[in-house]
Amino acid sequence: MSDRLFIFDTTLRDGEQVPGCQLNTVEKIQVAKALEALGVDVIEAGFPISSPGDFNSVVEISKAVTWPTICALSRAVEKDIDAAAEALKYAKHKRIHTGIGTSDYHIKYKFNSTREEIIERAIACVKYAKKYVEDVQFYAEDAGRTDNEYLARVVEAVVKAGATVVNIPDTTGYCLPEDFGKKIRYLKENVKGIDKVTIATHCHNDLGMATANSISGILNGARQAEVTVNGIGERAGNTSLEEVAMIFKSHKLGIDTNINTQKIYSTSRLVSSMMNMPVQPNKAIVGRNAFAHSSGIHQDGVLKNRENYEIIDPKDVGIDETSIVLTARSGRAALKHRLHVLGVDLDQTALDRAYNDFLALADRKKDLNDDDILMLVGKSRGEKGRISIDYLQVTSGIGVRAVASVGINIAGEKFEAAASGNGPVDAAINAIKQIIRRKMTLEEFLIQAITKGSDDTGKVHMTVSYNGENYYGFGANTDIVAASADAFVDAINKFVI
Ligand code: KIV
Ligand code: ZN
Repeated sequence: MSDRLFIFDTTLRDGEQVPGCQLNTVEKIQVAKALEALGVDVIEAGFPISSPGDFNSVVEISKAVTWPTICALSRAVEKDIDAAAEALKYAKHKRIHTGIGTSDYHIKYKFNSTREEIIERAIACVKYAKKYVEDVQFYAEDAGRTDNEYLARVVEAVVKAGATVVNIPDTTGYCLPEDFGKKIRYLKENVKGIDKVTIATHCHNDLGMATANSISGILNGARQAEVTVNGIGERAGNTSLEEVAMIFKSHKLGIDTNINTQKIYSTSRLVSSMMNMPVQPNKAIVGRNAFAHSSGIHQDGVLKNRENYEIIDPKDVGIDETSIVLTARSGRAALKHRLHVLGVDLDQTALDRAYNDFLALADRKKDLNDDDILMLVGKSRGEKGRISIDYLQVTSGIGVRAVASVGINIAGEKFEAAASGNGPVDAAINAIKQIIRRKMTLEEFLIQAITKGSDDTGKVHMTVSYNGENYYGFGANTDIVAASADAFVDAINKFVI
């Protein structure tokens, strides 16, 4: 029988500490509900003493969420613990997370204290929290740089005081995986009563080792992983939820989580768009390129058998199809496959000719889109009733409502419309919607600059849902409103034929 690894999500606490990622209470409830559906065991909902907004979010999340334990953070300070307990009033399952720094750096320079005094404070905060709730988690901040023998004394003292979970954070992301694993093993072997409590890992990513350290800690006896969606968090971030969940799904290590992995991608998108935090394209599991194969050898291999180059089935994390990016390094098989998807099947001679033209074009243009490919073989999607923008004019500014007028060409027929919106992109999209009257929803909207500077080209990625399916659109232009409108129309072209 497998051991259970508890997933403690701190996206709404450690993740939300990132500048620019702040959410309001309604948004936090939406993320908390998504985390519940994803199957996390514990949601760290906030740090109630830090602000009335954080306090209120913990209250409202406690009301909205049923299954996961709701956790509130506090320092080893009575008024923090009072606030945490009060904020958790409505939680069906509640936990107070309290603690103090245990490394010599923290003891000396943060608290101007001594090791013995810190142990006393640790015991006191756990006992105080215990007056409110049964489930008390203690964190030994900067445990990563805390001497193991002293850490074991602290942990033994808080376990004796009633802690149910002991959190061993690598707060500064300093540890090496082997050392972090040894630290957990040391506690397992040297702390009286440790088998009655859960050991948690909480690793930061300053040296890019957060996930490796967490896994090492788990393999050495920890049974709770503290994580965030997309790995967001202080500085370089925290261990990412999706990486831990997929590692235990991919490797048979005798340890399972409760994560419904098929909800990983949608949760990642939700967190990224709500927190305005784009996911790096090459991010493991959830990055745009995580399942995109661009070299010819890889594309050919994947088309023959997905497992040649993919260790995870994209469907397992909720992504519909492996995306094959066509570049100068793509092979004939990839071109043939893309043409087939676009409805064009060529014989060998025609394919050879198209492939030569493709290589010539790919040398001049980095990524080739579907229109480029169809153009190469002398077909345009115009034959299929393709929609294009004839013109777009937008007025916007400070103190005025944005207004857009647009001319659209649908299979040679011209249409015009105007609309307003809460910004120029919204106005342009509303105007297009006046013409293309389908029940479609903009699911994802991401603008990226290609290089730097105000004369830069903006790239827009959009996902539009229609009839239960998601359609991806892309636009690039030095005018980001035009790029957005192009991306929207590009997506629409995939379902309006
Ligand atoms: O990184 C850290 O040490 C923390 C604690 C408050 C758990 O976030
Ligand atoms: Zn942290």
